[in-house]
This record gives sequence, structure tokens and C-alpha cells, in this order.
Amino acid sequence: MDSVHMLRIIIITVIFVPIIICEQVKKYPLLMPNVHPKHDELYLCTPIKVVPKKSFYIVGFEPNATMETAHHILLYGCTTPGSNKSYWDCGEMSAHQEDKDIPRASPCASGSHVLYAWARDAKKFEVPDGVGFQIGEGTSIHYLVLQVHYAHTDKFKGGKTDNSGIFLMYTEEPRNKLAGVLLLGTSGVIPPNSITHMESDCRLVENKTIHPFAYRTHTHSLGKVVTGYAIHEDENKQHQWTLLGKRDPLTPQMFYPVLNKDPVHPGDILAARCTMESNRNTYTHVGATNMDEMCNFYLMYYVKEGTPLDMKYCFTPGPPYFYWDKENHLNNIPDKEASSL
Ligand SMILES: *[C@@H]1O[C@H](CO)[C@@H](O)[C@H](O)[C@H]1NC(C)=O
Ligand SMILES: *[C@@H]1O[C@H](CO)[C@@H](O)[C@H](O)[C@H]1NC(C)=O
Ligand SMILES: *[C@@H]1O[C@H](CO)[C@@H](O)[C@H](O)[C@H]1NC(C)=O
Repeated sequence: MDSVHMLRIIIITVIFVPIIICEQVKKYPLLMPNVHPKHDELYLCTPIKVVPKKSFYIVGFEPNATMETAHHILLYGCTTPGSNKSYWDCGEMSAHQEDKDIPRASPCASGSHVLYAWARDAKKFEVPDGVGFQIGEGTSIHYLVLQVHYAHTDKFKGGKTDNSGIFLMYTEEPRNKLAGVLLLGTSGVIPPNSITHMESDCRLVENKTIHPFAYRTHTHSLGKVVTGYAIHEDENKQHQWTLLGKRDPLTPQMFYPVLNKDPVHPGDILAARCTMESNRNTYTHVGATNMDEMCNFYLMYYVKEGTPLDMKYCFTPGPPYFYWDKENHLNNIPDKEASSL
């Protein structure tokens, strides 16, 4: 037994040590700086600046949070952060300002992308083998901004502070497969007492093949189903739809594995639909407050060579101006599947 064990140790040492040495995955704590959330539904942001003239590859995200404290956490990559303070109020939905001590700003002042999302006690998230999110030199991501949504803040009444956040797993060793996130979404208006489809689609015009691996959906309270598709157009301009992800957007809004990992090629189309149900007697517009709506489908992918897509967003005017069947630009629409769970 012992000699078999030793042999195993030797083999493991010989085979794996060199790999471990060249990998050197390190951990960086991106945590709230002991903040004291004073009112419910508060969103706070804290930034880090990426070391200039260096490039890093993020390979995993380890949450340091519990659902009792944090409703959700988002990690943004920014070109410039929303504020120069150590933390600020960056609420998407906070219509009310109760805390005059904390400045208000969006997470990023420019170059905003969502890189990761955590909710509801999700465990560590790792990107596929050999894949990394490149940040710093050679990219538009010069800052990372952590956003924590504190839904209920009773536990902080006694003066307790919080350092929820994310441990970033990263390496300086270049990765050849680079990850990116494409955000599909719409503007538009949802009429009173209606079921409305908010739809977007964009063709991949860059000469790059992408490999989807995760998706996230986001709406406010009227979202019933959000779906995302890759569409291949054949020689006869017929569209073949492949479902990438489908969710009730009111389930925890984190990244989930895609339902189909087939590569999406140049000339293919990416599409998303949010089915919204309004029992309100007023029109609901797309916007940032609780009374407004959003329709977002995030697609996380990697490329095997070169850099991720220059296209970071695919936005349309939404209802009543834009639909998938406008001027029949998309056909074979899986209407039922795209709107039912
Ligand atoms: C976050 O990490 C710190 C240590 O780095 C720890 O003291 C703290 O309790 C953690 N918070 C949560 C919510 O896990
Ligand atoms: C942060 O500081 C820099 C340099 O001092 C300035 O150019 C930038 O406008 C500031 N950003 C904000 C959001 O105040
Ligand atoms: C697209 O990229 C491939 C490989 O990356 C290359 O062989 C091909 O020539 C490119 N096509 C165009 C039209 O640039």
C-alpha cells in the first residue's frame, strides 16, 4: 500500500507540479470596505483600479456573501468608475434617497459591462478550462466595480458593518481562450393590462466564432419568461433556432449554464425575447426605477483565438417599434416555446 501511495505521490509531483507552477492562480479580495447599510433596498458600489500596463485573466469568482445580507452582487468591468469615492450609492432601482451622506452615481461612468452575477447562496463560479476574462492592458476594462444590493438592513441597526463581496481567482499567465459577455435588450413601452413581447436580435458581423457557456436574465417585476436563441440562416434564408437559455426572470438572477454549447458562427444571429405581463392601468416604460421595466439577456461566451466580440450590446427600440417579425426579417419564430416556461 505504502509503496503504491509513494508512487502516486511521485507521479502526481512529477506530472502536476510544473502545471501548477505555470498556472499560479491567485486570489484577490474585492469586498465592501466595512460599510454600514442604513436603509432597505440600498445598492452600494466599491471600485478597484487594475494595475496599469499589466493584463490579468480572471478564471473564477468565489462569493463571500450570504443571502441574509446580500440580495444579489454584480461585478462590472468599467473603463472609468462611476465615482472616485471608496464606495457610493449605485442603485439601479432606488428611486428614494434617504442617505444624504453617500454620493449617488452609476457603477461605471464609461465602458460598462457586467462580468459576473451572484444571487441566492450560489457557489463558486469557474469559467471553462483554459478560458479567462482579460482585464487591464489591451482591454477597455481598467476598473472593476463591485455592486451589492442590500435588500433588508435590519441586522445593521446596531451599528454592525459589512464586507460582502467576491474573491477573484486570476492569473497573469495569458489565456488563449478569452471570455466576453454580450448583453441583448430593448427599450420600449408596455401597454396597460397586456402581455407584451420585448424582442432584440443582432447578426454576428465580426469574423469570430463564439462558444456560449452561460447566460443570465434580468427584468423588474413584470417579466414572466426570458429566452435567448442562436439562429442559423441557411442558403434559402430559412432560420434555424437553437435555444440558449430560458428562465423565469424572477428566479435568482445569476449566470446559469447555457442549454446548448454549439459554436455560433459569423453570419449567425443572436436573439432574445422577454414576455412581460402587466396588470397595471398605466403604461410601463423601460427605465431604472422600480416602476419601470428592463428586458436583458446576458450571454457569456469565449473565443478560441483573438479577442472577444467588439459588439458588447445588442439593443433594439422594443415595443411597439421593433419585433422579431418586423418586415419578416426573422422566420420560423418558435413563438410558443419562446414565451412559455
Ligand atoms: C468575508 O470575508 C471576510 C474575511 O476575508 C470574513 O471576515 C467575512 O466574515 C466574510 N463575510 C461573509 C459574509 O462571508
Ligand atoms: C475621478 O478623478 C479623475 C482624475 O482626478 C477625473 O478625471 C474624473 O472625472 C473623476 N471621476 C468622477 C466620476 O468624478
Ligand atoms: C476570418 O477568419 C479566419 C480565421 O480566423 C480567416 O482564415 C479568414 O480569412 C477570415 N475571413 C475574412 C473574411 O476576414
